[in-house]
Amino acid sequence: MLNQPKDLDEIKYNEALKKKIVKLKKSRNAVIIVHNYQRDEIQDIADISGDSLALSQAAVRTDADVIVFCGVRFMAESASILNTDKKVLLPVMEAGCPMADMITPEKLKTKRLQHPDAAVVCYVNSSAEVKAESDIACTSSNAIEVVRSLKEKNIIFVPDKNLGRYVQSQLPEKNIILWEGFCPTHIRVQEEDVARTKSLHPEAEVIAHPECSPEVLALADHICSTGGMFTYVKKSRTKEFIIATESGMLYKLQKENPDKNFYLPTQNLVCANMKLITLGWVAHSLEKMVYEIKVSDEVREKAKRSLDRMLAVTGEKSGAIISGY
Ligand code: 13P
Ligand code: SF4
Repeated sequence: MLNQPKDLDEIKYNEALKKKIVKLKKSRNAVIIVHNYQRDEIQDIADISGDSLALSQAAVRTDADVIVFCGVRFMAESASILNTDKKVLLPVMEAGCPMADMITPEKLKTKRLQHPDAAVVCYVNSSAEVKAESDIACTSSNAIEVVRSLKEKNIIFVPDKNLGRYVQSQLPEKNIILWEGFCPTHIRVQEEDVARTKSLHPEAEVIAHPECSPEVLALADHICSTGGMFTYVKKSRTKEFIIATESGMLYKLQKENPDKNFYLPTQNLVCANMKLITLGWVAHSLEKMVYEIKVSDEVREKAKRSLDRMLAVTGEKSGAIISGY
C-alpha cells in the first residue's frame, strides 16, 4: 500500500532529500509542477500543484528556466509544447498514461476519414502526435466548454469514452462519436462500492471524476476535475465526502480541510504511473537534468495549435495552487 505512515529513518531520509531538492532547484532556476495524484511527499515540495488544465496554464506563465514535471508523460509533453524556451524534465521516463496509449495518430486519421464533417476533440491525456491530428484539446475541467464552443454538430471525441459520454449527456445538441479508450484506474470504481460507502456515511456527498463509468457518475452529487474537487469541497457546508478518483487526492483534501472527512469508495484507486515519481527521482532529475521531454518541431507546431485553441476557450481561469515552498 502506498503512502503508509513512515518510520523515523524514512522521515529523516526524505527531509535530507527535500533540502537537496531546494538547493538544486535554486541553482537551476527550476520550478516543480505537481499533479494532484502524486505521492504525499511530492505534493509537499510543489511550487505549483493542480489539475491538468491548471498545470498547462502554469507552464505557460512560469519564468523559470527549468520545469520539473511531477506527473505523467502527456502532461510534461504539453508543458514542453507550450514552452520552447524552457527545459521540461520528467523525473521518471516510464511514467506514462495507459489511456493515452489507447489511440494512435494513424487510427485517428482513419476515423476522421470516416466522418469528414466532424471536428476532432482530444482529451489532453493523449500523445503530442494525437494532439497534432486534432482540432482542439480539452481537459476534464473544460471538456463541456470546449465542445460547446465548436460550430460542428458531429464531434469525434478521443480517447476517453467515459468523459465523451459525460460531455454528450450535458450537450444533447451535439453528436459525439466516441473512442473505446478508458482509464484503467477509474474503471475500478463500481456502483456497488459507491453505494456501500454511502450506506456507511449517509450524510456524505459523492464527488466523481468524469473518467468514472456512467453508472458511477449517475450516483454522484457533483462531477468535476481534480482541481474542481478542491474548490467544491471548500465551498460546501457538507462535512463528509466520498471521492471517486485516484487516492492521491485525499492527502491535500484532508490537509486543506481538516474539519472535513474524506472516503474512497474502494481502496485500490491507485494510478501506478503517477506513483513512480519519488523524492529521490526528483533530486536525480535536477542533479543530472534528466529526462528532457522534447517534441519534434513539426508535431509541436500542430499540437500547440490544439492546446492554444483550448486555452483560448478557457481563458485565464486556473485551479493551480502556488505554494511558497
Ligand atoms: P485532472 O485534469 O482532472 O487532474 O485529471 C487528470 C487525469 O489524468 C485524471 O485521471
Ligand atoms: Fe492516465 Fe488514469 Fe493515471 Fe490519469 S489516473 S494518468 S487517466 S491512467
